[in-house]
Amino acid sequence: MTLIERCRALLAEADTRSFPDDPERVAGMLREVLDELAYRYYVLDEPLVADSEYDRLISWLRSIERANPSVYRDDSPSARVGGEPRPGFEKVVHPEPMLSLTNAFDAEDLRAWYQRCRKVLSLSDDEALAMACELKIDGLAVALTYRNGLLETAATRGDGTTGENITANVRTIRSVPLRVPPPGLSGAASPLVPRVFEVRGEVYMHRSHFESLNERLAAAGEKVIANPRNGAAGSLRQLDPKVTASRPLSFFGYALGPVEGGRPSTQSGVLTWLGLMGFRTNPATRTTSSIDEVIGFCQEWSRERGSLDYEIDGVVVKVDDLAMQARLGAVSHAPRWAVAFKFPAREATTVLEDIIVNVGRTGVIKPEAVLRPVFIGGVTVSQATLHNEDYIRSRDIRILDTVLVKRAGDVIPAVIGPVTEARTGNERVWTMPQHCPSCGHPLERLDGEADTYCVASDCPAQFVRLVEHFVSRETMDIEGFGARLAAQLAGEGLVRGLADIYRLDSESLTRLEGFAGRKAENLLAAIDASRHRTISRLIFGLGIRHVGKTTAEALARSVESVAALAALDIEALSAMQGIGPVIAQSVFDWFRHEENRRLVDDLSTLGVNTVRLPGEAPAHATGWAAGRTFVVTGILESMSRSDAETRIKASGGKVSSSVSARTDFVVAGDSPGSKLAKARELGVAILDEAAFLAHLTQS
Ligand code: IVH
Repeated sequence: MTLIERCRALLAEADTRSFPDDPERVAGMLREVLDELAYRYYVLDEPLVADSEYDRLISWLRSIERANPSVYRDDSPSARVGGEPRPGFEKVVHPEPMLSLTNAFDAEDLRAWYQRCRKVLSLSDDEALAMACELKIDGLAVALTYRNGLLETAATRGDGTTGENITANVRTIRSVPLRVPPPGLSGAASPLVPRVFEVRGEVYMHRSHFESLNERLAAAGEKVIANPRNGAAGSLRQLDPKVTASRPLSFFGYALGPVEGGRPSTQSGVLTWLGLMGFRTNPATRTTSSIDEVIGFCQEWSRERGSLDYEIDGVVVKVDDLAMQARLGAVSHAPRWAVAFKFPAREATTVLEDIIVNVGRTGVIKPEAVLRPVFIGGVTVSQATLHNEDYIRSRDIRILDTVLVKRAGDVIPAVIGPVTEARTGNERVWTMPQHCPSCGHPLERLDGEADTYCVASDCPAQFVRLVEHFVSRETMDIEGFGARLAAQLAGEGLVRGLADIYRLDSESLTRLEGFAGRKAENLLAAIDASRHRTISRLIFGLGIRHVGKTTAEALARSVESVAALAALDIEALSAMQGIGPVIAQSVFDWFRHEENRRLVDDLSTLGVNTVRLPGEAPAHATGWAAGRTFVVTGILESMSRSDAETRIKASGGKVSSSVSARTDFVVAGDSPGSKLAKARELGVAILDEAAFLAHLTQS
């Protein structure tokens, strides 16, 4: 039977034979199938069944093992949950020291290393030197000892000579085989397993797993972790293996320690052998005899490192031939046969001199780090984001702390966390100011929101930011109108509301400083040109909280005009494609403010386009109601109930006479009665007449 057939057969039995009368045999079959499924999933990255099916089988195995302790085995797939907590870690002396590596920082260093190897090996010009290039995984080195095919000990690198025994923790890492060779490999493919051998490799945490772990920790009110490497290190050093088991760690094997008996003759052969034995090895390995190709590989990964779901901090280049490695030997703590090409650091430590806050256009208050200038990956960084109050508090970041700063890609540098070991006692805990630094209005932080806001509608800093945003390239795109001009016009009182931009005239502009020559005319021409922008740009430009470019486009596709958008209720808004409840609420709230409605009217009166242009296609060519079920109830003002039903059908919708869980919308007029009550009870979306009309007209 194939694996999938065996799996299906066991799944079919799982529910009917919870306690089989031949537990030994069933547990054996379960272990075999589960081992093979796990090997495919964690090592080969080729899942065969759904996670839930795997889970059903493993809980069956667990219950059999619990009921019959004699069938339990130490290498059972159920043994990945972690054993008892321990008081500390025993020391382990490595039979062969775990060396570190010499660094190379550029192509020149790599060439120098290569030439030195050639020289020590006395290679003539026509003799090639094969090298294996491997990614340098940013995790923790561990040594795994297998005896008679079973994982016996796992140890940290420690100081290279002595490490710590972390076997109980490593046993919870799914990609570390508890037994070799892997299940399902037999015959010619199965290599001879040495009686005792040691595998060395890196334990690390995937970026995505690291992020969800931090979300989990933050939600539980616990301290978040600075980076995936710390995540891996902290998880491995847990005294309670159950905690480690709950941490998503992975393993790549990259070397052999002591082996009883023979071993492959090359590093590339070692990697192949490790793969056959059921270990995960990194797929991005390349073997070449050209130092130019080695340099190319290093440069390529220096650029592409961001595309991986785990962090690498360089490339390890190794002489491929193990006999040559032995001839090259080691100097002090590093072998001569390998070199680590280190990527330019994108992290650095510096002193956090102060924390200031900026007021954004929506009133959001953003704490920002004032840093002692530091050179990171080719640029000087003196400011970095600190996101919000919780970010600072959960990481315990203090003023005058030495902090780790990271630059990733093109994004704004961020403070990752403090180096607590460097504290002197002079550090000060920062608190969020109580009042807006621009207008003095008390700041607010709503329940469930991470951000603090200045909600004053007349906050000058917010308004300047809003003007900047409104005129910027992605919104109304007014050429020559930048941050400086926004501050100047607001400061002079010429622009007190967004509509004032369209009331500017050359007379008042030419009186301003720096408005000599044609500048006023040019600006007025640019402002005039912006009167014809699409409504998605206008909606984005209005600065409604949570409405970014994509959301503005989604809104614009669903309405005919900004006025129609203003008329929609929350249900109608949330029913739009791409609009969730938070955005719907925010848009709805924005239009409930009298001054905002007036702004839209004023803009329209001043000649700014507020209706959808032919280029902005509606969302559904088939009509808004398509595929949805409606119930119309109560007395409508502008049409009869049957007219409404006809129009729903014309737009592709279905009409029903009673409200059920399958109803998508209830259109409610006056005196709606029990159908409305039923809709509320079932949580069905309710449209009033205006919202219903707004939808119909746009479809
Ligand atoms: S080989 C003697 N290969 O880098 C050479 N090391 O400074 C032993 N590392 O702590 C290391 N990826 O944890 C080797 N593909 C790789 C590696 C790798 C990451 C780490 C290892 C060690 C450090 C060497």
